[in-house]
Amino acid sequence: MKVIVTKDYNDLSKKACEYIESQVNRKPDSVLGLATGGTPLGTYRELIEGYRSRSVNYHQAYSLNLDEYVGLDKSHPQSYHFFMSNHLFDSINIDPDHTFIPNGKTNDLVHECERYERLIEEIGPPDLQLLGIGQNGHIGFNEPGTPFGRETHLIDLAESTRKANARFFPSIDDVPKQAITMGIKSILKSKKIVLLASGEEKAEAIKCLLEDEPNEGFPASALKDHDDVTLIVDEQAYKDA
Ligand code: F6R
Repeated sequence: MKVIVTKDYNDLSKKACEYIESQVNRKPDSVLGLATGGTPLGTYRELIEGYRSRSVNYHQAYSLNLDEYVGLDKSHPQSYHFFMSNHLFDSINIDPDHTFIPNGKTNDLVHECERYERLIEEIGPPDLQLLGIGQNGHIGFNEPGTPFGRETHLIDLAESTRKANARFFPSIDDVPKQAITMGIKSILKSKKIVLLASGEEKAEAIKCLLEDEPNEGFPASALKDHDDVTLIVDEQAYKDA
């Protein structure tokens, strides 16, 4: 795993943006695997800035998002559909028909997981997959204990994940209890992976990531089985490593 330590969150966001822009410039029809949450927000702001000031062109690009909450309508402000439109898609020239996110509002969630995995095979795998990391080591919403062999599946969110994400909802009772997520196996199909971690609250997870052997108790450790992973981490999250 290649490790890049940046001074702060702004530099981390700029570095992640450079990786994505160089991917799209090199291969205009790249498939980008995208994440939500707080960490990639700065990266998305930089990408929008790059689209406006450096004329980076997303017209031929595709995106596949990692996950979506179960039960939230696409128009719900905390759905990942809404998040992606609001923080990136509406501000760059990606074709809306080229953007894919699991549908968490369907009656047949099992079928939706199968459909999404087939989509990853048809459109993807991502040329570049962007990831964040949970304090418990989750990637996508693969919580500790998820077998590394899982593809896209339905998951019960860990209480710690619901608490961490409650900051985006009126109260913890409003945080969905389930999500659809790409599995670890799906994520590892990506050609290149860029993992972002920022802030002191991620320091312990980064220490485990760098020290632990692959084990299902710490999902991000599966990335050690992939041969093109770059960790971009700021000094605050790297301080214990
Ligand atoms: C989001 C996702 C999650 C987040 C993780 C970190 O699509 O898959 O794994 O990356 O929960 O979230 P933040 O960035 O909010 O700390």
